[in-house]
Amino acid sequence: MAESVTITDNRTGESIEVPITNGGVSATEWKKLLGNIWFHDPGYTQTAATSSSITEIDGDAGILRYRGYPIEQLAEQSTYLEVAYLLIYGELPTPEQFEQWKHDITYHTFIHENVRKRFMEGFHYDAHPMGMLVSAVAALSTFYLEAKDIFDEPVLDKQVVRLIAKMPTLAACAYRFSIGMPFIWPDNSKGFAENFLKMMFEPWDHVPWRDPKLSHALDVLFILHADHELNCGTATMRMVASSHADPYTATAAAAAALYGPRHGGANEQVIRMLHSIGSMDNVAGFVADVKAGKGRLQGFGHRVYKNFDPRAQIIKRIADEVFETTGKNPLLDIALKLEEVALADDYFVSRKLYPNVDFYSGLIYQAMGFPVDIFTVLFAIPRTAGWLAHYKELLEQDQKIARPRQLYTGADVRDYVGIDQR
Ligand code: CMC
Repeated sequence: MAESVTITDNRTGESIEVPITNGGVSATEWKKLLGNIWFHDPGYTQTAATSSSITEIDGDAGILRYRGYPIEQLAEQSTYLEVAYLLIYGELPTPEQFEQWKHDITYHTFIHENVRKRFMEGFHYDAHPMGMLVSAVAALSTFYLEAKDIFDEPVLDKQVVRLIAKMPTLAACAYRFSIGMPFIWPDNSKGFAENFLKMMFEPWDHVPWRDPKLSHALDVLFILHADHELNCGTATMRMVASSHADPYTATAAAAAALYGPRHGGANEQVIRMLHSIGSMDNVAGFVADVKAGKGRLQGFGHRVYKNFDPRAQIIKRIADEVFETTGKNPLLDIALKLEEVALADDYFVSRKLYPNVDFYSGLIYQAMGFPVDIFTVLFAIPRTAGWLAHYKELLEQDQKIARPRQLYTGADVRDYVGIDQR
């Protein structure tokens, strides 16, 4: 017999049996009995806002899979561009499809001169790169007017390619501007991560960015960040897409959601936190402060993972490989000590708080020579593939416009009082 729940309205004694499908119950069924009773679920802690076949997470078991493929296998054997294709089109590409995809992405990396000269260079010298990225991505919609033809599949696919391809260029452009250095144009002979490192760091040698080990490590980090089902940024992507806004505007909104310190901004906050702790001797005191409610342990905790974040475990291995090339990040010892102290403490154990993807990623980025300000941009670059996979899926599902309900708790009706009477 199919699984179900029975709901009884105690006001009338009426009942309804609701089937459990894919682990959820349909609000449409609930509505048949309780049309005007809304679920009060701010933060969507108990609400499935969609069904999706892109990414599967089992938070208790520490499992993450893209289109059924375990993240560990993809990180070990695939590349970011192949994973991007997998996320967007649902299957791993054939050799011919992959060659075409790589070619298309490579040849759409350039940005219009007006984006660079008039737009990016119009920012204040100390603008945050995430603010610049969010604005520049939204601005792209004004350069590709056909992008609003979202139900024309070849047209939409062209914007998908453009967005994935141009993100690293925009990111590097924001960085070079922030340090007052000339922009480096994309080099179409290079791979995705390699080209990005070149645009960021050419012609300097203070970090070994030309070393293929670094571009490989960055590519693996891109794989790990490519999608993560319905987090705040992706939920925003789907929310905006449901109004049928073009993919540039929707991506800009998703990136804006990612920017916050509770989400993708946490990688930046982790480094700031480790700097403020300063030495191993201060770790115990810092943890005591966190337990006393004075701030959070950045890079710890997750809405879905109540076990180790599988990405954090892969990242730890990548960190070792990167540090062999760059030298160890001096903050690593503090981070390791912090992890050790937290994982032995009942406060964190009882709340199932483990290191998440952001705990170690910042240490790698910093060792690679990336400034702290740009860490969240490094998250946004690969997440673009995931966002666009969700954008396409939502259009295919023909989902209604996202329009939640509220429970009104404000003033009852009252008469307007003129300003001279107040
Ligand atoms: N440090 C200290 N206490 C914490 C932390 C933390 N990092 N995270 C959660 N808690 C406590 C929280 O105070 C609460 O305790 P109590 O039950 O006594 O009130 C309990 O754990 C549950 O926390 P919550 O805020 O209800 O959990 P949430 O699912 O709403 O929040 C989170 C998830 C990721 C926003 C949160 O864990 C957090 O703020 N972490 C630090 C920021 C961070 O690392 N964010 C990156 C997340 S992973 C990558 C991404 O999403 O982009």
